[in-house]
Amino acid sequence: MSKASHDPWLGAAVLSMDPGNLLEVCRRVIKSDLVEGQDWNPDFLRRLASMALAASKTKEEAAERMSFLLSPEVFKIVKPSPLGDKGLYVQEHKWSVWTRYGEHIILGMQDGLRPKGLHFGQTSHQGHFEYMAQNRLRMFHSGALPKNQLAHELQLLAALLPADKMMELLKPMLSPQRELLEQETALKVLASLMSEKVGDWIVEALPVLTPVVREQAVTALLSRTDRIAKLLDAIEAKKITPAQLSVAAKATLGRQKTPALAERIAKLIGDGSSANRKAVIETYLTAMQGSDAGTPARKESVVAGKSARITGDATRGAKVYEMACMVCHKFADKGNEVGPHLATIKAWTAEQLVTNILDPNREVSPNFSLYLVETNDGRTLSGLIASETAGNLTLKRADGGTDTVLRSEIKSLASPGISLMPEGLEAAITPQQMADLIAYLKAE
Ligand code: HEC
Repeated sequence: MSKASHDPWLGAAVLSMDPGNLLEVCRRVIKSDLVEGQDWNPDFLRRLASMALAASKTKEEAAERMSFLLSPEVFKIVKPSPLGDKGLYVQEHKWSVWTRYGEHIILGMQDGLRPKGLHFGQTSHQGHFEYMAQNRLRMFHSGALPKNQLAHELQLLAALLPADKMMELLKPMLSPQRELLEQETALKVLASLMSEKVGDWIVEALPVLTPVVREQAVTALLSRTDRIAKLLDAIEAKKITPAQLSVAAKATLGRQKTPALAERIAKLIGDGSSANRKAVIETYLTAMQGSDAGTPARKESVVAGKSARITGDATRGAKVYEMACMVCHKFADKGNEVGPHLATIKAWTAEQLVTNILDPNREVSPNFSLYLVETNDGRTLSGLIASETAGNLTLKRADGGTDTVLRSEIKSLASPGISLMPEGLEAAITPQQMADLIAYLKAE
């Protein structure tokens, strides 16, 4: 079966089996390596270990499963025995298996524990791995770590160290002097830590982050209600202004249902949409085309010193696209394909475009409707359903990233029948910018 672990389809079949059997599969996998020298894909073992732990129903059961996976019969090897006897060969042989798979199993166990709000370090196994953490830390600080191993190493350290210690490592990495990839990696690991302080830590880092990383930091804050509260605190304390939040972030906040939060959001940021789509569209079309001379909207735009007919500029339009659309759409090789590719709309009239941009909920195709998922451990995820399997569900977020949740971890799932595309984009786009944007979309 070791070949299956390198084959995505067979691998998926094994992973969709009854979770009750997973422990046994893990044990056999490790044993088969010990006895027959089989070669397993370490990532496969990580997923196996993760699912085996995620399937446990209580904290006690999780601890039991960990003990099993790390038990003498299965995997005792923490350190080769210094005693030279006949046992040594076996010990060393097992040691090589441990170095190959052990850390992937630890990572897998942490993956499986995280949704339960548990940390590997809170278990009785922490002591066994103290020496491992110390070694890894020394290696980390020596600067000898190859760049492509940074993510793996940080995840492992995050599983082995308490959150506070881990934050000490990550903090200096979240500064603009560091390479972008390093900052992004540090942020991902920070967002995955199991600590109530994560929200504060991310908010503290926000002012020094450049736009790309800041957007990811905000996404990490929006994923949990306790962290949203910290973000709102920071806005209230004027450490961050609502203008620093992207359109997509504001739209996500606007959909927040927890009453206490929704009230604060409406006060601090607005709810991201205005009631009358038809009037907004009229205003834009009038300002742009000047077709309705004499209407109040037209008069207003004249008084405001705007020319009756605005000409769009494709170069400026490209900037508007990058600011407001690129997170979700692909066009001219730029952006994420969360929504439809925008090459298809070239033939649309300006009116069709303005209508679709300002009133995305007029028609919502089922493939693009928004889903909101609350998890048992308090996260709120939103996005399109990207894929489903027997045991889990993957959501594609508005920023192009994905979240996978186990079905058993879902507290509630709802589709409010609205598009993932946010309403209220007019708050970020003036009629002039709309004209520029349309010139860009039609010119490329
Ligand atoms: C948060 C994600 C998101 C953002 C931001 C966003 N869109 Fe969309 N957009 C979507 C999704 C999802 C759809 C599909 C909607 C549906 O069918 O309900 C869509 C649909 C559209 C459509 C209709 C396309 C079709 O083939 O039916 C147009 C046009 C469009 N978007 C333009 C824009 C423009 C221009 C911007 C920037 C001003 C923008 N969108 C910003 C997600 C987004």
